[in-house]
Amino acid sequence: MRRVSSQDIVKMKAGGVRIVAVTAYDYSFARHIDEAGADMILVGDSLGMVVYGHKDTLRVTMEQMIAHTRAVVRGSGRAFVVADMPFMSYQVSVEEGMKNAGRLISETGASAVKFEGSHVELASRLTDIGIPVVGHLGYTPQSARLFGRDVVRGKGAEEKNSILERALALQEAGISALVIESVPESLGGELSRRLNIPVIGIGSGRYCDGEIQVCYDILVLYPDFTPKHSKIYKNIGRAVKNAVKKYVSEVRTGDFPAESNVLKF
Ligand code: KIV
Repeated sequence: MRRVSSQDIVKMKAGGVRIVAVTAYDYSFARHIDEAGADMILVGDSLGMVVYGHKDTLRVTMEQMIAHTRAVVRGSGRAFVVADMPFMSYQVSVEEGMKNAGRLISETGASAVKFEGSHVELASRLTDIGIPVVGHLGYTPQSARLFGRDVVRGKGAEEKNSILERALALQEAGISALVIESVPESLGGELSRRLNIPVIGIGSGRYCDGEIQVCYDILVLYPDFTPKHSKIYKNIGRAVKNAVKKYVSEVRTGDFPAESNVLKF
């Protein structure tokens, strides 16, 4: 089995095959998600919230992204693995962005890097040297302090046109796919029709070329909230709590370990 490549996901769009993407942050989740057939695994900087318990994604470091992406690459054999570039690893200068994108690829084995916003020159320089890039427009969590949280972007004509123009410029710069977050369904659909590269939606309606979700949201593992755009496929959070409650109770009563758990030497 070989890994899905950036050319494969572009071909999937051309062939009318919807692209399935989900986040993962460690080896075991990556194994399950890869074996379940996801085409793309994003090691998202959402790990700052769901794994590390911060209120936003801004404190995530390069070292954390490298460690988690390595684990996900080890746990997956087929999926296209995308490593998120953390806040301030690419915004200061194109040179710094290139250096950090290079580290994410060479130190982890990731298939591509993703960054938020319209950093067209960075996208162009990275694709020139052969580093696949995934863009991210619409609601961009690293800018939440400026634009607010829980907002739909691209509502008025001006914002909609600005997102369309920036998406086209990023495509021109050579990106392999675009994540579009929290925009009206009509804009998700229009972007998917106007771009040749796959447009992967999250909170952007039904007409994108594919969908991405945070695995902790669809499995209700993050205890603080589940976004409205997500669907609960299984409440694993509740299953974990109930299982551990049973364990607590059985250890207290002495029902566990039982005779069958005793190692024989
Ligand atoms: O960090 C992340 O998980 C993301 C997704 C929400 C697309 O960027």
